[in-house]
Amino acid sequence: MSVKIEGISTKHLDRLHEIEMECFEKEAFTKQQIAYLLTDHNSTGLIAELNGEIAGFVIGKIHRDRKSATGHVLTIDVSPKHRRKGIGLRLLQEIERIFKDKGVRVCFLEAREDNIAALSLYRKFGYGEAGRLENYYGNAHGVRLRKTLT
Ligand SMILES: CC(C)(COP(=O)(O)OP(=O)(O)OC[C@H]1O[C@@H](n2cnc3c(N)ncnc32)[C@H](O)[C@@H]1OP(=O)(O)O)[C@@H](O)C(=O)NCCC(=O)NCCS
Repeated sequence: MSVKIEGISTKHLDRLHEIEMECFEKEAFTKQQIAYLLTDHNSTGLIAELNGEIAGFVIGKIHRDRKSATGHVLTIDVSPKHRRKGIGLRLLQEIERIFKDKGVRVCFLEAREDNIAALSLYRKFGYGEAGRLENYYGNAHGVRLRKTLT
């Protein structure tokens, strides 16, 4: 299996939205919201291609102040039929590498506290809990996770 990681372009938006709907149903970002995230010059978007098909994507953003740069993974989605093939891990590895190249030392992300797949992936990849987020997802709580990029 060969997974190719590439930068997102606007021509991918339809497929990204399709995957977003497969992943989140009611809470999915709209196509406009995905496009908006990508227009920010501090954001990075990557797709994972498997046999010519987009199987997943990640979007993250760098926040800068005068002293430091902090990475934030906003969304990571893998199409259900391509899960447990290491694609989520590859996307995370690659966005962290880009963050590091841009001077980021700490990366944050959030997940619903009942999102076993996401929390398992993040913990496996070295993220530790940095706080509980009360009602972060409407009536569901969230967990904030943090990793020092080395
Ligand atoms: C979370 C998500 C991105 C993981 O993507 P993936 O490509 O299936 O993950 P990987 O194959 O890289 O998994 C890497 C490791 O994470 C853990 N993991 C992934 N999915 C898991 C699951 N359903 N249950 C338990 N552990 C899981 C495992 O340790 C796995 O390693 P293993 O397969 O060798 O056991 C995917 O499930 C998804 O898109 N979910 C819906 C969208 C979502 O919730 N995104 C996160 C928002 S915070």
